[in-house]
Formats: sequence, C-alpha cells, structure tokens
Amino acid sequence: MKAYSHKHPKASPLINAIPEAADKARSMNLPYWIIAQDTNPFGIVIVGQEPQQLTAPSGTPVALITLEPSQASSRNLPDFISTATKLVTAKNLANALVTVSFKHRRAVRQFLQAGFEPFDDYYLMYRQLSQQWTPTTELRFESVKQRETREWFKMATRFLAGTADTALNHNLQYMLDLPDTFLTRYHASEKLYFVAKGDTTIGILDIHGTKGWIGNMAVDPLSRRQGCGKQILTFALNQLKTRGCSKAGLRVHVNNKPACRLYSSFGFKKTARFKRLLWWNHRYTTS
Ligand SMILES: CC(C)(COP(=O)(O)OP(=O)(O)OC[C@H]1O[C@@H](n2cnc3c(N)ncnc32)[C@H](O)[C@@H]1OP(=O)(O)O)[C@@H](O)C(=O)NCCC(=O)NCCS
Repeated sequence: MKAYSHKHPKASPLINAIPEAADKARSMNLPYWIIAQDTNPFGIVIVGQEPQQLTAPSGTPVALITLEPSQASSRNLPDFISTATKLVTAKNLANALVTVSFKHRRAVRQFLQAGFEPFDDYYLMYRQLSQQWTPTTELRFESVKQRETREWFKMATRFLAGTADTALNHNLQYMLDLPDTFLTRYHASEKLYFVAKGDTTIGILDIHGTKGWIGNMAVDPLSRRQGCGKQILTFALNQLKTRGCSKAGLRVHVNNKPACRLYSSFGFKKTARFKRLLWWNHRYTTS
C-alpha cells in the first residue's frame, strides 16, 4: 500500500473512486494523501493544524484519517493503518484522528491493536421540523457579535465542563486559547447566542442555520434542572425551522445522560453511533 499526495499524477483516478472522502478533504481546503493499493483507494489522510478538532494546542500539526468503509476489509486494514501512521510520523504530525462506525467493531478493534486510543463515542440524533414550538418568555437569546466571540467561548468552556463527554472534556482545555482567525471564521459560519435570565447569562447556544445543526448548548450548573435546557432547545428548533431547515441534527456523547434524555424527550432519534480514535505520534518533535 502507498500514500499518494493529491497532487501526484496517479492521484486523480483514485480521488474519483472515493468521491465522498475526497469531497470532505477538498472542503477543508487542506493537503491530503490517498492511501491505495494499485488502483484501489482505502482512505485519505488530511493534514492540517489545530484548531481543526481541538485535540492539541493551536498550531499543532495533526492528521485526520478518513477510511473508505466500502473498500477496507479486516484483511487490508492493518496495512492501511501502518501506511497512514508512517505518513503521520514522516510528516512529523502530533496525532491522527479517525472516525469509525460503531457497527464496524472489527475495524475499531484493529485500530486499538495498532495503538490508537479511544477518544469519542457518540450518537448522531435527528428529528423532523414539522412543527413550531411555543417560545419561552423567561429567557432572552442575545445574538453574539463578532467581538464577543472569545467571551462566548469563555462562557461555553465554563458551562460545558464536567460532563461525561470525554472528547469534549479534552477539547475544552484548548478553547480558551483559540486564535483570532479561528474565532472570526467560527462566528461567520455559526449562529452564536448568549442565553440570559434577568441580568445573568445562564447558558450558551450555537446552531448552524443552513446545515440544520445544533452545535453546542449548555446551561450554567447553578441553573440546571429548572427547565432552561428545554427552553434553549425549543428556541434552537424554532430558529432552524424559521431558517428553512426540514430537520435538526446534533452529536451527543453516549454517556451524556442528561443531554440524551433531553433530546429524546423532544423526539430526537439516534440514527448512528460512531467512535473516534486518536493515535499519538510519540516521535513528534516541535522545532
Ligand atoms: C443537558 C443540559 C443542557 C440540560 O439543561 P437543564 O437546564 O438542566 O435541562 P432542563 O431542566 O430543561 O431538563 C430537561 C430534561 O433534560 C433531562 N435532564 C436534565 N438533567 C438531567 C439529569 N441530571 N439527569 C437525567 N436527565 C436530565 C430530563 O429529561 C429533563 O426533563 P425532566 O426535568 O422533565 O425530567 C445541561 O445538563 C447541561 O448544560 N449539561 C452540560 C452541557 C451539555 O452536556 N450539553 C449538551 C452537549 S450535547
């Protein structure tokens, strides 16, 4: 198995053979390598810098591995993993993150055997947006201005802490140190809100109006179990419906019981479960 840069003359037919994975790489606007045996591509390694997945401090070079499930079998996966991790070592990247469907248990086992560590285990949940919910009058939803984005991340860091979401807990340590360029980009792509009760900010929310996606929602630990979570979710769903989305989706860690219960009580259904696994390059050196 070999890794071909996306610029390599042999890369084009390989890229065309795995359009979904290639689209993902192109949409990130980053260099990538296709791992293939002869004319069969098995996956892609995208190379970039944090903050992409918030696995390490800003500026850390990292990789994102996308496996093509239709091509990879348990027979060729060890070779794929070894080619991918060799590339990560050769490029002096700090780590590599891969997402594998929970259904592909054997693949998950093979990544673990190759030294990857469990990082995340989450459900994707969706519900149709056929109705409008009665809005709350108790809470105020204040749209976050671009210059307030860092303040919003500070609040988010505080309110999102302490859940059973291991990936989120890892990500949180890097949220206070995000570069301005990232904050500007994030503010342009998401709709961020401070949630206030009286004079106090008691929660945060971010949604993606065109993707129909609820990114983050959280309530100050001191204000939990008073119905605020339900009101924030009601607002989020009404916003997405008003913006023309036909369904709403979100990611939730499988062990985040309060959030899972809240979403289920609003009719969200689990449509898939994924594991993310992280490989640390112990030879990584900063220069
Ligand atoms: C999830 C979260 C937003 C809920 O906020 P909240 O204000 O406490 O929620 P509400 O009081 O409106 O409760 C709504 C429902 O959530 C569920 N719920 C909330 N807290 C719960 C808990 N500790 N245990 C079990 N279920 C819980 C219940 O179904 C509850 O309905 P009920 O009170 O009728 O039983 C809050 O726990 C939070 O901020 N957690 C940390 C951040 C987080 O996990 N965000 C989601 C990331 S995907």
